[in-house]
Amino acid sequence: MRGITVRGCGISLPDKVLTNDDLSATLDTSDAWIIERTGIKERRVGGITSQMGAEAGRRALEDAGLQPADVDVVLLATTTPDALVPGTSATIQEQIGVPGGAFDLNAACSGFVYGLVVAAGLVAVGSGRILLIGSDALSRITDWDDRALAVLVGDGAGAVVVEPVDGPGDLLSWNMGADGSLRHLLKCDHGGYLFMDGKEVFRKAVRVVVESAERALSDAGLQPADVDLLVPHQANLRIIQAACQRLGITEERTAVVIDRYGNTSSASIPLALDDAIRNGRVHDGATLLLTGFGGGMTWASAVLRWRA
Ligand code: UT7
Repeated sequence: MRGITVRGCGISLPDKVLTNDDLSATLDTSDAWIIERTGIKERRVGGITSQMGAEAGRRALEDAGLQPADVDVVLLATTTPDALVPGTSATIQEQIGVPGGAFDLNAACSGFVYGLVVAAGLVAVGSGRILLIGSDALSRITDWDDRALAVLVGDGAGAVVVEPVDGPGDLLSWNMGADGSLRHLLKCDHGGYLFMDGKEVFRKAVRVVVESAERALSDAGLQPADVDLLVPHQANLRIIQAACQRLGITEERTAVVIDRYGNTSSASIPLALDDAIRNGRVHDGATLLLTGFGGGMTWASAVLRWRA
């Protein structure tokens, strides 16, 4: 049996900071409304998916003490590829100088957790190390005159190295789901802008994320009390708080970066994970519960033992 462990973590963010006050200058909104309804104070914009992904990937390799040649596959979770063809992972592969395979995965905001499960599957059938990256530039598909979406989105990337180990490894359980009958709730047609039925997504999100997280915990034979850190998708602070409350996991045991970065889709979970690691919140052997949801609708959760 071949399992996985996760080694190294890196992120990348565009330099340009857009505050709520900046948005209020051109939109009928306010800092107070955005903070109260979403928890977001500022976000980064102007990112390019391949550039951010390559930088996060390089930093994850550096953090793991590895060279590009030590990796077999670049797996990029993204909703905002640089182009339809080729996959943006190919650009990243070339920019970092990784030999081997490269492919994109689109499961919207659940993409990073889907990617972790796919990476574990590749390892199980014999792959070497996988550079798993979540990178999204939602600012590029946002209508900046649409206050409903403009206040929510941000750009960023995060990456980890997924490494084979003998035995069951550190991915203790996982859960993935989708309901394509809800795809109209969150979508972007070719050449168009992102559309979201925010209220409906909110309602569904809390339910699916809690159910998915509970299933993953139960499959790992664990209780909410066993979770050292919940690392949720960062879509809205109120969704995170509602999920925490229903799961019985306190906010002190939850990674939150939405105040600084907004909703960065596939990047939000690795951005939150990296922040928790840098702030000394993830000890050796910690039990992490990663959970996300997004367009599709899709959802996914994973219970991961962290090795420092
Ligand atoms: O990544 C995965 C997908 N995304 C999500 O999970 C997002 C899910 N949804 C949400 O986060 C929330 O539904 C929003 C933040 C999008 C909206 O919050 P809400 O509490 O559901 O607000 P609402 O849509 O019920 O709107 C309340 C009021 C409305 O005015 P009236 O009808 O009460 O007069 C809106 O027109 O707030 C108004 N409004 C705004 N006001 C100021 C809507 N957007 C804004 C805005 N600034 N940006």
